[in-house]
Amino acid sequence: MTENNTNDNNEAEGPAPERVVGTPKVEERVVSETPADPYDDHDGPYRAFETHARPEEVQRRGEKIASVWFLLAFLGGIGFLVSYFVFNSEEIADPQIAQYSNMALGGTLTLALFGIGAGMTVWARQVMPHYEVHSPYDELPSSEEEKSSFGTFFMQSADESGFTKRPLMRRTLILAMVPLGLAPIVLLRDTGPLPGDKFKETLWENGRRMYVEGTHRALRPEDLENDPYGMISALPAIDDDHYPHGISLNDQAKSVILLIKMPEGDWKSRMTEEIEGTDGQTRLNWTHNGIVAYSKICTHVGCPAALYERTSHRILCPCHQSTFDAADAAHVVFGPAHRPLPQLPIGVDDEGYLIATGDFTEPPGPTFWEYAKD
Ligand code: FES
Repeated sequence: MTENNTNDNNEAEGPAPERVVGTPKVEERVVSETPADPYDDHDGPYRAFETHARPEEVQRRGEKIASVWFLLAFLGGIGFLVSYFVFNSEEIADPQIAQYSNMALGGTLTLALFGIGAGMTVWARQVMPHYEVHSPYDELPSSEEEKSSFGTFFMQSADESGFTKRPLMRRTLILAMVPLGLAPIVLLRDTGPLPGDKFKETLWENGRRMYVEGTHRALRPEDLENDPYGMISALPAIDDDHYPHGISLNDQAKSVILLIKMPEGDWKSRMTEEIEGTDGQTRLNWTHNGIVAYSKICTHVGCPAALYERTSHRILCPCHQSTFDAADAAHVVFGPAHRPLPQLPIGVDDEGYLIATGDFTEPPGPTFWEYAKD
């Protein structure tokens, strides 16, 4: 091995200089190829002058293993794109199918990213030579000499990494990156088409009954009557034949409401103000026997605002602590939200079930670009 000779010389002249990023390579540095694995016995990191390269046969094996990982990453990336298109937006309205879709997208993306990571790890450990490189803090900017030497260093590192010398590994890596590079472009599809009026309309309409969220039990005023400070989450009662998978997640997100019962004397001034755009109606006209209905979706960024403090009638959103006063038209009393929770007008039908008497008059949830009060 040539390493011993070099080390002898170095010992006679004192310690050999260490390799510094941006400087020409050290002339005395010797690349040794040892058939046995020297990594187990070596004490500490390899210095610049004692660079170790794996034997060619180990490097070849590493190249093949890394390439297999890159191929798996490629398949994972393709699988991600396929999963994205296999589950269309109507199917994923079914929560069960949405779960499969999420698992397929997450699993394939994990395989793609893990494959690239594992391949690069094998590449670094078995194909690249090992030695210590350090870079001391330096004055900026770099000198002309340092700038010109960087090119040399860069090309040398590219050579040593095996990127130019190992075409199988290089090509499979590039192959693996293609679907991952395409994924963000494909996902742009989800940004369109523009929502139009979708955010401004919900499933609520005049005469629509309401179910307790998670059941098919239609609500009556008596359900809240035994509890003068009660609160229930509810959804529109929709015919199952019309919605075989139940209400889509998007429709649920827009329609879910909080029904709150409170003593009549607790209402505050905003409840008696005339509502803009109506024929002299007030928010109290939209309540029924002390029951008021508000959108459950926070007007900040859309979390479910479902923490209710009975004694103060405050509705708290747990995400960023926006607080709405249920006794005062869900006016914002604290936090980043800047709009009240929209109120749903309610009443009872002939059979005594609670119903909506119309849709929200403003879009529930966070404000969006096309948001404007009609
Ligand atoms: S989403 Fe409710 S406070 Fe931010």
